Amino acid sequence: MTRLSAITPSGHAHLGNHLGAIRRWAREGSAGDLYFVSDLHAMTVSYNPSRLRSLSRELLAVLLAAGIKPDRVFVQSDLVRELGALSWVLECTCSFGEAARMTQFKQRADGQGMVRLGLLTYPVLMAADILLQGATEVPVGQDQTQHVELARSLARRFNSTFGEVFVVPRAVMAPTAARVMDLSDPTRKMSKSTQDNAGVVFLLDDPDLVRRKVMRAVTDNEKRLEYRPTTQPGLANLLEILAACVGRSPIEIADEYSSYGELKEAVAEAVVAELAPLRASTLELLDDPKELDEIRAAGAARAREWGRHVLESALRMAGLSG
Ligand code: TYM
Repeated sequence: MTRLSAITPSGHAHLGNHLGAIRRWAREGSAGDLYFVSDLHAMTVSYNPSRLRSLSRELLAVLLAAGIKPDRVFVQSDLVRELGALSWVLECTCSFGEAARMTQFKQRADGQGMVRLGLLTYPVLMAADILLQGATEVPVGQDQTQHVELARSLARRFNSTFGEVFVVPRAVMAPTAARVMDLSDPTRKMSKSTQDNAGVVFLLDDPDLVRRKVMRAVTDNEKRLEYRPTTQPGLANLLEILAACVGRSPIEIADEYSSYGELKEAVAEAVVAELAPLRASTLELLDDPKELDEIRAAGAARAREWGRHVLESALRMAGLSG
């Protein structure tokens, strides 16, 4: 079994990325897993090249600081030739309607001056990421499951049209914190690219800032502290965050607090404690550029080598070179 997943350097990594994804990757990982920084995906909207480069480094450091082994990580653009080739083959396996139906595409395209074609085809590149490495399981948060479904469909369609080349992957989701919500607006998910940072706890925020953000979280005027995600989304979000940090259930925790202030203090302290070691190791790694560069180069060579056989077979079966 190979698990594979990634994080896009479209902004600084946040608590949602950590609880819903990175922490699980580090904890549940096994020998064949691969995790990468998907910098090609960050190009689907307007971006700044030097910021992209520095965010990619930062996220590589975050993955390592979270405990993912150095021989399990790589940066996506180091495989741009292989992924570009496979992506084209898969684009020619995917219908326009399938790509246009992706919820994330519709949300992100909405209100953008120029909708890049890459924003539409990005889930196909994501399928290439997954299929190139022959991943069997893809651990993601809820927002990415539709993309993994597309990867499954494309793999099956290619296999039945041209012959068995791809392993058909499946998405695996976190039991709690699969969707951490914005603290200022609990109806939208915590996101790297949100303009207003007040509701987003970044992994590298200093502890005082984390406390301030949690203490200002939007809740409601109800008297009772109960876990009711549909009617009390702000409260449910705080309970889920605390539950994920301390490894318990949100319903159980709700019983133990009698005021919002008391609960928020507990959430703030749990989040600060959860992030402290991660923050310290990330900053340490960012201080040693040589080590990061070496890890990155070795990861690229390994991932390229692992994907070579799948790419060659796919090209051959599709009637191309080889
Ligand atoms: P990205 O960078 O948006 O998110 C990285 C991971 O974090 C999870 N996540 C969340 N989980 C809980 N609550 C939140 N608020 C929250 N926000 C994000 C995401 O579900 C994800 O698991 N396209 C992908 C990266 C990618 C990829 C892949 C993933 C590229 N190729 C191949 C798997 C396999 C992305 O942009 O994730």
